[in-house]
Amino acid sequence: MQPAKVGLVGLGAYAPERVMTNDEWSRYVDTSDAWIVERTGIRRRRIAAEGETTVDLGEKAALAALADAGLGPGDIDELIVATDTPEVYLPDTSSILQHRLGLGAVPTYDLGGSGCAGFVQALDVARSRVLTGKRRVLVVGVELLSRLMSWTDRNTCVLFGDGAGAAVVGEVRRGGEILAVVAGTDGSRAGILGLEVGGTRKPFTLERAQRDEHHAIVMNGREVFREAVHHMSEAAQQVLELAGVTLDEVALVVPHQANLRILQAVAKALDVPAGKVFVNVEEYGNTGSASIPLALVQARAAGRIPAGALVLLTTFGAGFHWAAALVRF
Ligand code: UT7
Repeated sequence: MQPAKVGLVGLGAYAPERVMTNDEWSRYVDTSDAWIVERTGIRRRRIAAEGETTVDLGEKAALAALADAGLGPGDIDELIVATDTPEVYLPDTSSILQHRLGLGAVPTYDLGGSGCAGFVQALDVARSRVLTGKRRVLVVGVELLSRLMSWTDRNTCVLFGDGAGAAVVGEVRRGGEILAVVAGTDGSRAGILGLEVGGTRKPFTLERAQRDEHHAIVMNGREVFREAVHHMSEAAQQVLELAGVTLDEVALVVPHQANLRILQAVAKALDVPAGKVFVNVEEYGNTGSASIPLALVQARAAGRIPAGALVLLTTFGAGFHWAAALVRF
């Protein structure tokens, strides 16, 4: 029998303790606090400690989500980890996290490479898994981007931060129902944001590593900016239409925290007042697939998501992939 309503049973997040300011970046690259704030709105980001890994961050967020749901590891039937910064190359992060959390022999999957869209894509998959018989799916979005990016490329390094967020997806009785999800991909734009070295096209070699190419994230910032605004606002409109809801009824928009200017442009395109858009990019930077759950947890803690509130999530990442979801808390 299908559960009546499927949604977010619990939420959790974790950000590493170390705070790195914009001024600190000027020790590594030719940049300034003024440039970073003006172009991105980012003031600080969290950076994982030396021994801390993707699974360490993901575990903390997952435990917080389980505690929030009042559930234990035995209550989870499946695990999906959205990450572009896996614990190791093989096997996937989800198998290592499954063991760490003591979930038992439940199936686990990584959703890798879809950048900042990964968490909402994973929510979409988790929702359909619950609709087809799983009791609960644990979804984790975790990124340790400080270890993936080049600390000498000012075009990218100042944008990112580390963090993790998690949600337990299952039958909901009170709030948290996921009313609708939309998602899309345009693979013709794959070359605009990515990291080629290490794959089969450009295998990892000593020469490439010596040139620091294994960290060389390729990004056409302006193009990414334009596409992000277009797809985040279009997906938001599509999910509202699918659910038969108008923007006026939405209490809060929680967009992927890429860049303050992108968030402002999305708000303008949707014609929503800035006060209706949750922003924490100034404190965390762009934390990839961790960004939406981290923002959701903070928005809830700040009292921005009262019972019954409609919350609109919208995101965009490498691929290009985009996804939006509408949740009634
Ligand atoms: O989830 C997706 C992740 N990616 C994004 O969200 C990125 C989206 N794109 C953006 O947010 C913006 O395009 C950036 C913030 C990356 C760049 O802002 P922009 O207004 O598009 O600047 P630009 O790329 O046109 O660069 C302007 C100048 C360049 O110098 P020249 O060529 O004009 O002399 C850059 O080299 O700014 C320079 N620049 C910097 N200067 C100081 C680039 N990065 C920095 C920096 N500090 N960190």
